[in-house]
Amino acid sequence: MTELFSFELKRQDKAARTGVITTPRGQIRTPAFMPVGTGATVKAMFPEDVAATGADIILGNTYHLMLRPGAERVAKLGGLHRFMHWEKPILTDSGGYQVMSLAKLRRITEEGVTFQSHIDGATIHLTPERAIEVQCLLGADIQMVLDECTPFPATREEAKRSLDLSMRWAERSKAAFARLGAPGQALFGIVQGSTYPDLREQSARALMEIGFPGYAVGGLAVGEGQQSMLDMVEVTTAVLPEDRPRYLMGVGTPEDLLGAIARGIDMFDCVMPTRSGRHCQAFTWSGRLNLRNARHAEDTRPLDAESQCPAAQYSRAYLHHLVKSGETLGAMLLSYANVQFYQELMARSREAIAQGRFAAFAEDVLRRYQSGGE
Ligand code: GUN
Repeated sequence: MTELFSFELKRQDKAARTGVITTPRGQIRTPAFMPVGTGATVKAMFPEDVAATGADIILGNTYHLMLRPGAERVAKLGGLHRFMHWEKPILTDSGGYQVMSLAKLRRITEEGVTFQSHIDGATIHLTPERAIEVQCLLGADIQMVLDECTPFPATREEAKRSLDLSMRWAERSKAAFARLGAPGQALFGIVQGSTYPDLREQSARALMEIGFPGYAVGGLAVGEGQQSMLDMVEVTTAVLPEDRPRYLMGVGTPEDLLGAIARGIDMFDCVMPTRSGRHCQAFTWSGRLNLRNARHAEDTRPLDAESQCPAAQYSRAYLHHLVKSGETLGAMLLSYANVQFYQELMARSREAIAQGRFAAFAEDVLRRYQSGGE
């Protein structure tokens, strides 16, 4: 029988990889970038436009959706895909990370995490079992184990204690998923271990022992700096099995993505293209631009002449006017153009890997980004 969920590695170029994840809701070409749709919306974008950028999958959040509108309500309304008009795959994060960054009065015990909702102050319990139940109610195609994103910096002892807890939660998450998951859905493990290479390796091996169809690298981009992050990615991917997708959580800039792809990462999510879009920042093939800057006021050139995105065809002068005037359309167009830039970056990376020229491709993009936007 062919597997409903599978990963096929198509080509390797040194450590960089290109492949395809197959799910019942469609294929995901890797390296893949998942736009963040936290609260059942990729902010300021029509789902049709998100699909038009070339995104094969988006990310949703257990934490936000369980608080509002509630997982049981989404299930009653036919699941997250139908609710938000997105029929392709959805990956949901498990909530642990968002609890730590957003909720008030958090308490972590062996059982799980208790916190106060940032919306109405209600006391909520999130256990590995409930995190899986919520993700199943949402109908997520790829689900994540409940983990603790180890705060940075952490002593070795703190990092070890935290990762051991996350590994026990990973085991409980898998047991819950075995009961509740639907055919074709997949549950990924999350490697922790802070900035300690031996703990990263220990965490990866503990998860491989439990056994998952994909592995994420968590606890990074939390203040450790790019080189340290990439070093941790490298030690982790060296241990993970080649035949399973690897997902770097919450990363990052175009420079971070290229560095992580070069070290064997297949999937990413980050708020950067949409959040930056709402804050007047554009990612283009000629570098980063701040559209608030007065130098764009009479610039008739399109935002990005190299991009295929409809939103990138508007003039820089018009976009400057929109963002200076606080017009909603400015945020919408920049979000669209940025998400499309990230998708084009992944498409060109896949092509470069397939042709065995990823290093040269990455160097060219980095040069454009280091020289500043033109
Ligand atoms: N998003 C970014 N980092 C993390 C992490 O360490 N764990 C989870 N669950 N989500 C994340």
